[in-house]
Amino acid sequence: MLVQIQHIFQSASSDADAFNWLFNAFLAVSGFIILLVSGLIAWTVYKFRAKQAAVSAGQIPASTSRKVEILTFGLAGLLVAVFLVFTVRTIYRVQTPPRPGQQPDLTIVGHQWWWEIRYPDGTVTANELHIPAGRRLWVRLESADVIHDWYVPALGRKMDMIPGMSNYVWMQAREKGVYEGACNEYCGAQHAWMRIRVTAHSPEDFRRWLGEEGKSAREPKNELAKKGKELFHKKVCAGCHSIRGHTAGDSARIGPDLTHLASRKYILGGKEPNSLGALRAWISNPQAVKPGAHMPNFNLSPEEIEALAAYLNQLK
Ligand code: CUA
Repeated sequence: MLVQIQHIFQSASSDADAFNWLFNAFLAVSGFIILLVSGLIAWTVYKFRAKQAAVSAGQIPASTSRKVEILTFGLAGLLVAVFLVFTVRTIYRVQTPPRPGQQPDLTIVGHQWWWEIRYPDGTVTANELHIPAGRRLWVRLESADVIHDWYVPALGRKMDMIPGMSNYVWMQAREKGVYEGACNEYCGAQHAWMRIRVTAHSPEDFRRWLGEEGKSAREPKNELAKKGKELFHKKVCAGCHSIRGHTAGDSARIGPDLTHLASRKYILGGKEPNSLGALRAWISNPQAVKPGAHMPNFNLSPEEIEALAAYLNQLK
């Protein structure tokens, strides 16, 4: 189970910096007002508390109370106006400008319940996103079914993924590292297991990674894995999942691309660490592992499960 915590105040981008600044400013000013008002109430309650005989706090003259009203409403109005300016400024800073005709640096498609990731060179992967550190990437977000919401707090803003339309965001990781995120819009039974794991590499390492990821899947070497490869086609796994070089093209996109599955740290949208055991459990009864997931139970025999898991587990 993926246990890393998504830190909403972590920042690795100018967008997250802008959000954090705005949030902290709001928090400081509203915190000060709350303390001030609570303090005044406490002081008033204490000062005008009933002693032996009832005392009256007396009346404030009408002219004074009008001044107090003007002052409080005026100050509140001024504060709202100031924060409106800061908020609008932040919106402009993080807004992605339209770039007609231009190819985005990345396209990410939300599915129930996993992420499809497409690079401009045609490389396709799933769930674990790799990006070059330093650059501000222009990312297109889409959905294959229902509304999902892309959110990796450190790397920029969150954004809905809406069926039938494309939304765009900036994504930036100033430093190399691993950044956590999750789907932020309830999208069905397994919404909680739509975690995002972003690894930001140095530009050279990213090029190397993309080069490897773009290659076709390796051919299985041992008999068990070879049998698994045959079963992958016979049991119609290939109708939903692509394995570049092993399946006809990479057009099957109902389930995640599995070309280099074994190089991923987790499976099932972050639900299980990637291991032979987890693959076996998943293939033998998907609904027991991730109820509601769109993979049916194929009622495979123990030998078939063993062979398929061995095949998948060597797709480095
Ligand atoms: Cu996808 Cu919530």
